[in-house]
Amino acid sequence: MHSIEWQGAHLSLLDQRKLPHQSDWIQLKTHTEVAQAITDMVVRGAPAIAIAGAYGLALAIQNGEDRIEASKDLFEARPTAVNLQWALERLALVSDKDVLAEAKRIHQEDLMLNQNIGRHGAALLNGGILTICNTGALATSGHGTALGMIRSAHQNGQDIHVYILETRPYLQGARLTAYECMEEGIPCTLITDGMAGALLKTGRVQAAVAGCDRVAANGDTANKIGTYQLAQLCHIHDVPFYIAMPTTTLDRECPSGSEIPIEERSPLEVRSVQGTPIAPNNIPVWNPSFDVTPAHLISGWVTEFGIWQLPFPAEAHIGQKD
Ligand code: MRU
Repeated sequence: MHSIEWQGAHLSLLDQRKLPHQSDWIQLKTHTEVAQAITDMVVRGAPAIAIAGAYGLALAIQNGEDRIEASKDLFEARPTAVNLQWALERLALVSDKDVLAEAKRIHQEDLMLNQNIGRHGAALLNGGILTICNTGALATSGHGTALGMIRSAHQNGQDIHVYILETRPYLQGARLTAYECMEEGIPCTLITDGMAGALLKTGRVQAAVAGCDRVAANGDTANKIGTYQLAQLCHIHDVPFYIAMPTTTLDRECPSGSEIPIEERSPLEVRSVQGTPIAPNNIPVWNPSFDVTPAHLISGWVTEFGIWQLPFPAEAHIGQKD
């Protein structure tokens, strides 16, 4: 399963807004179309946004547009996931003629990061696993990060059962993670966000695992709204709470969670479900798309290099454990 394809001279994206009931691919020929697709969440998930943004810059160069302006437009498409900034900064180091090849490299490397995270992280999982949002193949180049750990554990034949939080308001859990798990035959149960505490109290969950959009140098972790309360609930119930973190999501320049920009999205997402109004038309709404989980609530960060604890290693090398 994948959601991003470079097709010779244009970018194809699987429209994640329509899953699981429709699989529509849309063709993008300009960087402004790519930036809009990122803002509108046609493509979402920190690593997938970075890959799409990288191809967006390749399109700008192909179309003879100003490279610095294009990079700025893409950078502004969504503010919280640092991966987009990371990809654009990496591309800033290569010449025009090498941008497409570098974008393809970012795309391919992400799959390797995911597989390594899956390999290291699977060892932490057994029995019931609670997860939030979608951190799978759709959110990345293919395998996934937190859901990649789960996918690897399932492929290893481990006895696991995934509890999927629906993840209001955008329903990435109910629509996308549920879809991926069903497609892969991973044993799973969908619950609404408000059911997490009751589920943890039953003792059916042995670990929770989430992805991340930006991890500060002190370990504070921004991820999908609801992650913070999930981490608090895990703490209360003595259940380990792990973050799957490709090091492309670690922002060493950001000292702590309070410096992480948090995107606020349209009130319509809260006033409606999939376009159907559920609340009074003009009810005031607060819709932060992410929250920050303080580092002390996190049992470990599963990276492509192994499981990290604080303080994070200054430099990382394959094979390094912590
Ligand atoms: O708003 P989204 O769907 O882009 O949010 C996605 C998440 O919060 C994911 O957990 C994160 O980007 C990691 S995806 C591997």
